[in-house]
Amino acid sequence: MDVNYWSLRYQKEQTGWDIGEASRPLVQLFKEFEDKEAKILIPGCGNAYEAEYLFNEGYQNVYLLDMAKEPLNDFIKRNPNFPSNQILFGDFFKHIGSYDIIVEQTFFCAINPNLRTLYVDKCHELLNHKGRILGVLFNRDFEGGPPFGGSINQYVPLFKQKFSNVKFEYSKYSIEPRSGSEVVFSCEK
Ligand SMILES: C[S@@+](CC[C@H](N)C(=O)[O-])C[C@H]1O[C@@H](n2cnc3c(N)ncnc32)[C@H](O)[C@@H]1O
Repeated sequence: MDVNYWSLRYQKEQTGWDIGEASRPLVQLFKEFEDKEAKILIPGCGNAYEAEYLFNEGYQNVYLLDMAKEPLNDFIKRNPNFPSNQILFGDFFKHIGSYDIIVEQTFFCAINPNLRTLYVDKCHELLNHKGRILGVLFNRDFEGGPPFGGSINQYVPLFKQKFSNVKFEYSKYSIEPRSGSEVVFSCEK
């Protein structure tokens, strides 16, 4: 699943993951978090509705990152006032930067499961002291993939390898097609 794979999915409009709005469980998590100065990265952001939401709520330091140009170009069309230097095109695993928050929304489930430890290590590397991941993960299996599924029982030890205050809870706010299959989580560096 390289850049061509993802670009083609956007070109052919095979984007079943795209819910067309900011993830509701994430919006609830964001409401508990009030530091509008925080530097926030959304990797594998796709159409990045969460970035749109945060930016409109007054978070000015939101950075998008995706290896496919198509959704980033669409984001720019929808959000002409969003700072262009905060729209990053590239591979998360090669990205260099430092952030206070990383937002996870259907990126973790899109990468090959054998990269999950690397994902956790990379988030750790990119976060400042006390930096946090705020995210939503699937708590179910899928046939084939992507998406690749998993369970809380797998995620907790994975994130605990590098992070403290690892908290998972079942989401009350999922949209109907994902109801009962999403968990919200946060953890701290
Ligand atoms: C399943 S989509 C999710 C998009 C978005 N988060 C959403 O919920 O609509 C996965 C996204 O991750 C991007 N992606 C996959 N591997 C990547 C990588 N290594 N670095 C950056 N982006 C990547 C793809 O281009 C795609 O936009």
